[in-house]
Amino acid sequence: KEITDAPILIIGSGYGGAVSALRLCEAGKKVVMLEMGLNWEKSGIPFSNMLKPGKSAAWLKKKTIAPFMNIFSLTPFTGTLDRMDFEHINIWVGRGVGGGSLVNGGMAVTPKESYFKEVFPDLDANKFYNTYFPLVHKELKVNVIGEQFLKDCPYYKFTRVGEAEAHKAGFKTIRVPNVYDFQYMEKEYKNEVPRSAFNTEVIYGNNHGKNSLDKTYLKKALDTGNLEILDLHCVDNIKLNEDKTYTLNVQQTDTSGTVVADKVFNCTKLILAAGTMGTLKLLLKSNAVNNFPIHEQIGKSWGNNGNFMTGRNWVKPLSGGTGAKQSTIPVGGIDNWEDKEHPFFTEIAPLPMGMDVATALYLLINRVDKKGEVSYDSINKKLSLNWDQSNTTKMRENADYFIKKMNRANGGTRSHFLFNNGFGADVCYHPLGGCVLGKATNEYGKLNNHDNLYVLDGSLIPGTIGVNPFVTITAIAEYCIENLIRQNEFA
Ligand code: FDA
Repeated sequence: KEITDAPILIIGSGYGGAVSALRLCEAGKKVVMLEMGLNWEKSGIPFSNMLKPGKSAAWLKKKTIAPFMNIFSLTPFTGTLDRMDFEHINIWVGRGVGGGSLVNGGMAVTPKESYFKEVFPDLDANKFYNTYFPLVHKELKVNVIGEQFLKDCPYYKFTRVGEAEAHKAGFKTIRVPNVYDFQYMEKEYKNEVPRSAFNTEVIYGNNHGKNSLDKTYLKKALDTGNLEILDLHCVDNIKLNEDKTYTLNVQQTDTSGTVVADKVFNCTKLILAAGTMGTLKLLLKSNAVNNFPIHEQIGKSWGNNGNFMTGRNWVKPLSGGTGAKQSTIPVGGIDNWEDKEHPFFTEIAPLPMGMDVATALYLLINRVDKKGEVSYDSINKKLSLNWDQSNTTKMRENADYFIKKMNRANGGTRSHFLFNNGFGADVCYHPLGGCVLGKATNEYGKLNNHDNLYVLDGSLIPGTIGVNPFVTITAIAEYCIENLIRQNEFA
């Protein structure tokens, strides 16, 4: 087996991994990053769009796995979008250099300060709202769509209709910032540059326009000359050595998923940034197979960030409609968070199916009153999730309230076209928690019971943050790595 020694190793190239890499590289440290997915930019393979799914569409699957379009057959390839299926919930994640930033809708939402304080009572909220959130906005290139463009552009009819209907039903709407470059979008509308958001590209990757992490944090980190990213390298398990260093068993694959090399990596400092589900799997599996020490809080306080999908079909499709042409980049939301009885936020989501399906799609984000727990099932060799309908009861009530109020004001029916009973309780894009900051780790993400292991990703957030999470994940990672470096953890 090939053995590599790397002083500092990061597993995963999503938000937490990319922030850690940049700040460590800027501090002059050499960093090796292992990513199980493909380096798309280096491969030169284009991303496919939603209407013609190709290589990038799914992680080693024979069929597409998009929530409503799982009809296309595929040749298994290490694509960008993966889905982990559990009994009551399916969790979608991004794979590839850039992690979730490759597949997500780019919605860059800062949490409400009052909720942030409730979720993280021990953090200095002032410092976050004055320093880390503005820093993250700058680094991620967050921007906002021009109102005139939004008003005129046929690709945003779904947003205009969604907002008008929300107002008629008495809801408050908000403009949602994004990392997609809206100046690029205005040019693509005029056909001055190749189309991406207007060419149904998003959940299988964007060829243009979207400032995913490979264009921001990771690019800056690579430019220092201190970062090496090894793609198609999947960490299978971790061992703790007697001298408190770590040994990783890693499988290198080709793009068909076939293992081409078994490798061993030794490191002194290890950062786990494999995303909530990836990090939990590595910790819990390593505990099961290698007796790897883990703290009792690992796996606890897991949540779906209150994700609950629902939709509406129009009763009279011809009188309304959301438009045959739709941008894939959401820019509108409904903010009902202050309602004591039915607090939720919902994205007015696109449904770019290439025709006017007269259907409105909403991804609700609710509070998570009852958290779940993740553990490792040694017999079946997979993660197991303690999560069922009882965890989503209130979310369902909110969705029902929302849809009824919208239909009463505007007409329409709950969408049985999109979901069996009109409710998608099992759709999760935002898995969070299981390795909560200050509980399973110290105040800066250093894992309890370990001297050289850090967790810096979505698993630090206790199951809920009230809005789409990557801005918060990035800000928490900035805060943690800054303090870890200051404390000479990586000296
Ligand atoms: P992230 O999941 O980004 O990265 C982890 C990386 O680790 C992955 O690249 C993975 O391949 C790699 N990895 C895992 N296990 C490994 C192993 N064993 N060995 C090597 N590598 C391994 N959020 C938001 O704020 N706004 C939005 O608009 C959206 N929209 C959205 C749409 C869709 C379809 C999805 C699936 C998700 C979103 N999200 C979102 C959620 C957002 O993308 C998500 O919260 C973040 O990407 C999570 O960041 P992390 O740093 O935690 O891990």
